[in-house]
Amino acid sequence: MRTDQPTVRTDQQTVRTDQQTVRAEQPVATAVAHPNIALIKYWGKSDEKLFLPRTDSLSMTLSVFPTTTRVRLAPEAGQDTVVFNGEPATGEAARRIVAFLDLVRERAGSPVRAVVDTENTVPTGAGLASSASGFAALAVAAAAAYGLGLDARGLSRLARRGSGSASRSIFGGFAVWHAGNPDGTPQEADASSYAEPVDAAGLDPALVVAVVNAGPKEVSSRTAMRRTMDTSPLFEPWAESSRADLVDMRAALGRGDLAAVGEIAERNALGMHATMLAARPAVRYMSPASLTVIDSVLQLRRDGVAAYVTMDAGPNVKVLCRRADTDRVAAVVREAAAGGSVHVAVPGPGARLLDEGV
Ligand code: PMV
Repeated sequence: MRTDQPTVRTDQQTVRTDQQTVRAEQPVATAVAHPNIALIKYWGKSDEKLFLPRTDSLSMTLSVFPTTTRVRLAPEAGQDTVVFNGEPATGEAARRIVAFLDLVRERAGSPVRAVVDTENTVPTGAGLASSASGFAALAVAAAAAYGLGLDARGLSRLARRGSGSASRSIFGGFAVWHAGNPDGTPQEADASSYAEPVDAAGLDPALVVAVVNAGPKEVSSRTAMRRTMDTSPLFEPWAESSRADLVDMRAALGRGDLAAVGEIAERNALGMHATMLAARPAVRYMSPASLTVIDSVLQLRRDGVAAYVTMDAGPNVKVLCRRADTDRVAAVVREAAAGGSVHVAVPGPGARLLDEGV
């Protein structure tokens, strides 16, 4: 990742002022980032403003569904412009991006507005981690355009403020996101929570993604997390067991033991969904179609294939398996997810700036 010395393109543009015509410098930076899927989940915040999670989490960045985001500083503009897949963004999506730019401007000591242009290839808001790739790409592009000069850890902390899971998409392969210390000063707390890479060289995994419903979810992960923490009697026990799961997961990754990685990931994810089912009122992201896919994976296991499910804040199911088993797993999952689409991912790259002219 080329994050130490971000390259920023400067567009020369002629700007008319009252008195004269001047050539204005307009930094532009474009970044690409991929979503990540957590094998040890992030669910619940200890600080909503700083996006500090209650527990550590661990994920795999995917090779599919990239988001590409271009940030152009617009000194002439009175407000930010956000374009999402070619359309002007509105509502909550635009508000979150402008709030994120405000944070970047505060750090840069700059009042300058920006034009943000995002192309997202993943269905948005369907529990497919679109906010992870989205805010990771935005963090890298905005940090470069505003000249923040952040290293990878700094970018991870910054991306976290847009969407917690985005902190992990700064890195390729596997990454752990530290919950940090919410009890320090705000500066200490902010500095303590970031992601970093985890070595899993002995593993050759694939993730088969079954999109059974690409529509946006009814309850946002933010709302669902808050409700779970506030009302679910299962939340604290899950948080406790998730800490133990992380220890086991790191050991399993270290030995390249895919069956153990899968077992731990599956119990961690199903446990997270159990906390939500026990919330008042319940939050249920699983649909009958999700259960059909889960059942097909259980059958694969009975047939001797190491395949394990994980699910996020939506009905879509991700199946972890050995890369060598991908075709067989994808065929079974495709049949189970009748009418849905199936995508195969392997570990993908971290967020990075693109070269000029892209
Ligand atoms: O995308 P966020 O930051 O709102 O969080 C979503 C959390 C889960 O996807 C459900 C779990 C995870 O760790 O990614």
